[in-house]
Parts: sequence; structure tokens; C-alpha cells
Amino acid sequence: MADTYDFGLVGLGVMGRNFILNVADNGFTAFGNDLDEEKVGALITEGGDTDKVNASSDVKTFVNALTTPRKIMLLVPAGKVVDIVIESLLPHLDKGDIIIDGGNSFFTDTDRREAYLKEKGINFFGAGVSGGAKGARRGPSIMPGGSREAYQHVKPIFEAVSAKYKGEPCVAYLGPKSAGNYVKMVHNGIEYGLMQLTSEIYDLLKKAGGLSNAELHQTFGQWNEGRLQSFLVEITSEIFEQKDDLGDGELVDKILDKAKQKGTGKWTSQNAMDLGIPVPTIDVAVSMRELSALKEERIKADALYDRPTPKTVDKADFISKAEQALYFAFIITYAQGMHQLADASKEYGYELELGEIAKIWRAGCIIRAALLADITDAYQANENLENLLLSPSFVEKVKETVDAAREMTAYGALNGIPLAGLSNALTYFDAYTSSRLPLNLIQAQRDYFGSHTYERVDREGIFHTEWEDN
Ligand code: 6PG
Repeated sequence: MADTYDFGLVGLGVMGRNFILNVADNGFTAFGNDLDEEKVGALITEGGDTDKVNASSDVKTFVNALTTPRKIMLLVPAGKVVDIVIESLLPHLDKGDIIIDGGNSFFTDTDRREAYLKEKGINFFGAGVSGGAKGARRGPSIMPGGSREAYQHVKPIFEAVSAKYKGEPCVAYLGPKSAGNYVKMVHNGIEYGLMQLTSEIYDLLKKAGGLSNAELHQTFGQWNEGRLQSFLVEITSEIFEQKDDLGDGELVDKILDKAKQKGTGKWTSQNAMDLGIPVPTIDVAVSMRELSALKEERIKADALYDRPTPKTVDKADFISKAEQALYFAFIITYAQGMHQLADASKEYGYELELGEIAKIWRAGCIIRAALLADITDAYQANENLENLLLSPSFVEKVKETVDAAREMTAYGALNGIPLAGLSNALTYFDAYTSSRLPLNLIQAQRDYFGSHTYERVDREGIFHTEWEDN
């Protein structure tokens, strides 16, 4: 057993246990803490063959076992529990110690905690950790925000345990205050968008293309070998071959079509609205989860309305266009998320480097994808890029695929297949690339009924008209 330990972790659920074992695998000593004696025991047993891991349910024993400045990561549920754990640690800490919240905390909570702990001389980090339980064990993407100086103490451990993309660690200091939690929130918003789009393409391939689960497995598997290569496409392929161990056939067909959510996608949308940045593909992904939850109402409504029978398609051509449409819509979703990050960085003083963020998303996290290498290049070529759609390399990618996105969207509309994400991505593209939109009419209406004034295209100034009311 070590005398003192390099790293402390509170919350020995699956994520916490896996993270601590990952720390130990990388040559650091680590001490765990959880109120639940069983979880403490489980970690000691699992980490028992090394002299690197220890644990206790007693907070004082835990804190005293750590090398100063102490580096204590919390992997506990977001919300009140984080505050409770912080309060339980505080009496035992020394100035300069570091607490890292690795959960999906709301960014304003992180700002509040950071300010509170700063007064006490404690450094607080909000660090998004992505990659699920497997990622925590084998290498997650980590998104830390907080004090740049204090990060130097955490850096060697985080760089060692994080996922690697071609040898480069998928972690970087992102910015002050809640920068890390904010970036993780938008990561999850993008995750919602990509998942919604994947489910729509599945619907198209199944209902119109007539693909069986075996064919869906093969199709997504092939796509994962190409430009759509990504964690989500990879697991989608695997999902289609999972057999149901409680009955016949594949499990996917037995899963209730009500998607749950813990809130990070909704927060992304809500905050984008506050900032005034459009992220409609993410918004609609949240709405579709809400709509999916209305199962009983949907069943009643389904009985009241006819639905067109999907028209026969040329299977090979349809699959190829579905691939293009998905690629197009993935690009649009990343573009919206990155746009939100760029604006939030100015609003909240995060000083985010979007190229760095894309870089640490290339491996380990849920939204990792081949596309992120291209996104990294685009922001490295121009760090002030306002929107991915303005990057020359993305202009080419979009031009190649937008026609298929139009065709698929039209097919869905005519054949009664809801494509909320895809159609929204297309609308976003068409609107963002329109130098003239019809919103001059909205300005006229506002001025007509409320004297809200308008600007003109041909001269400077603010105008109001006494509209003729006949
Ligand atoms: C990750 C995930 C992770 C979690 C999601 C699930 O990056 O590892 O995003 O944080 O699985 O938050 O979110 P919902 O329950 O809201 O779908």
C-alpha cells in the first residue's frame, strides 16, 4: 500500500470505479471514497492485485490519504449531491487543494461553486467526462474548465488516463469557470442531434428501403468504414444484431419507443435560445424525445389518420442517398453546436479555442467521428470561423450531399415518415445560406400592429410607418 495517494475519487459507481482503475493502470496511486461500504469493498477487491488502489467510506481517512495539493474528483449525480459532497470534504481540506466535478452539472451551478470555493482557497473544476462506463475505464474525452494554474497539477493524470487520437490526449484545459461543463453540455446537445438523425435514417431504411435488421447491421457497418465513421454509427450497426434473450428476433424491435433524457440536451437548447444562436436540429431532437414520450396519445391519433404507404424505391440507390443525407445532417449538427460554443465563449468569457475542442472530441467521447478531424482542421485553418458552413473544405462536403438530403426529406414528407432532424438540418442550411429571407414581412407586421419600427435595405436609420388600415 502507498503512504499517500496521487488522486482521490468520490463516488464509486460504475463510472467512478472504472475511472479510478484507469488512473491506477496509468501508474498513479488512487484512493476512492463512497458512503456505500459495498462499493468501497468492490473497488478494493477489483484493484487489489495492485498496490495502487485503496478506498474508504470515511471522508477524513480519504482526504488524509491524499498527496497535497489534493486532487479530488467527484463522479456523483449532478445537482444537490455535488454540494453535499463538497460540504463533507471542506472541513478536511487545505488551501490550494483541487476539487473536480466530473458529472454533467449545469454550468451556472459550476460558476456558483467555483466562486464559493475560491473564497476558501480551494480550486474547483467542472470537467465534462464523456465516453460512458467503457470510456472511463479505457480512456474518456475530458473537458476541464477552471483555474489554468491549478490545472497543471491535474494535467499529467488527465493526459495519461484520457483517450488518445493518434497519440494525442483527448483532454485540454478549455477555459476559466464553467467552460468545461458548458462544452460538455453542448457536446451532449450535439449527441442528441446525431442520435435523432440516426433514428430517422433507420426509419427510412426500414420502412421505405425494406431493410431487415441484418441488412441494417450490414449497412451501418459499411458506413462506419467510410466518411460516417463514428462511435454512434458503429454502435448502431451492433445494436441491429443483438438478439433478444427474452424472446425471438432482435432486441431492438422489442424496445419501447419512448426516449428518456436527463436534461443536458434541453439545457443546450434553452441556453442557445438565451444566447440567440439557432440550433434547430438540437432543439428538435429534444422535442422528438418529448413527442416519443406521448405514446398513449400517439396510439389514439394513429387510429384517427391515414398514413401513405411508402412508395417503392430502388434499394441500392436509396441506401446511398440515405448515407449522403446522414452525412450532410451530421455536418449541420456539428456546425450548430460549434456556433453555439463560439458565441457562448464571448458571452461568458471562456476564451474557448474551437480547434482544441474538436481535437479532444476526436476520440473517447460519444460524438467522436471521422468528421471531427476535418472540423479540427477547419478551425485550425481559421480560428475565427463563424460557422463550419463557411469553411472551404465543408462547402465541398455539403455540396456533394445536400441534394440527397433534399430527396430524402421530400420522400419522408410525401410518404408520412417523420424526419424532424433531417428536414430541420436542411431548413437551417437553406436559411443560413440565403442572403435574403422573408423576415422583412415580419418586421412590417411588427411595425404595423405595434409600431416596433424597422430598418431599411437602402438607407441607415430606424423607421416607422403609419400603415394604411383600410
Ligand atoms: C457521455 C454521455 C453521458 C450520458 C448522457 C445521456 O458523453 O458520456 O453524454 O454524459 O450518457 O448524458 O444523456 P440522456 O440521458 O439525457 O440521454
